[in-house]
Amino acid sequence: MAEKVKILISEDEIRRRVKEIAAQINRDYQGQSVHLICIMKGSLFYTCELARNLTMPVTIDYMAVSSYGSDTKSSGVVKMIKDLDESIEGKNVIVVEDIIDSGRTLSYLLENLSLRKPARLALTALLDKPDRRVTEVTVDYTGFVVPDYFVVGYGLDYDQRYRNLPYVGVLSFTEEE
Ligand code: IMP
Ligand code: MG
Repeated sequence: MAEKVKILISEDEIRRRVKEIAAQINRDYQGQSVHLICIMKGSLFYTCELARNLTMPVTIDYMAVSSYGSDTKSSGVVKMIKDLDESIEGKNVIVVEDIIDSGRTLSYLLENLSLRKPARLALTALLDKPDRRVTEVTVDYTGFVVPDYFVVGYGLDYDQRYRNLPYVGVLSFTEEE
C-alpha cells in the first residue's frame, strides 16, 4: 500500500504557535530557571524550537519511552528505554511532549517524575488528540488540538519515518502504488 501525507499544520503556523507558548512560559517563570525534559524521539523538534524562544536560564535533559512499537495504535504498555541523566529535585521541570493521545505515556511519566521531588512539574504538548483519551492528564501548555488522525512530521513518526518533515501532516494509506 502507498502512503500519502497531507499537510495539517504548516511550518509557519507551528513556528508562530511555539513562539506564543514560549512567551507564556517566559511570563509564568519570570526570574526563574526551567529544566526541559524532551521525551525522545518525537519531541526533538518541538523542544529545540521551544528552548530557543525561552529567555530565562534553560537546562535540557531527555528520556525515551515507547508505547507504540511499529503500529499506528498504542499498545497501552509504556516502556522506559532511557532515563534522565540528572536529578530533577528542586527544579522547575517542564516535560515537553510531541502529542498526547490516550494519555497513558504521560500519566505514567508524570507520576514517575513527581516522586523525584521537582519544585514545579508542568507539561507542554505540541499536539493534543482529546478524542482518544483513556487516562486523564492536565496539559499546561497545548500547541494545537487535532482530530483523531494519525499524524506525522515535526518529530512524529510512522515506523521511524517522516520525523524530518517541517510540518505536521495526516498519514493515509492508499491501494494504488
Ligand atoms: P499515548 O500514551 O497514547 O498518549 O501516546 C503518546 C505517544 O504515542 C506520543 O508521544 C507519540 O510518540 C505516539 N503517538 C500518538 N499519536 C500519534 C500520531 O498520531 N502519530 C505519531 N505518533 C503518535
Ligand atoms: Mg512520544
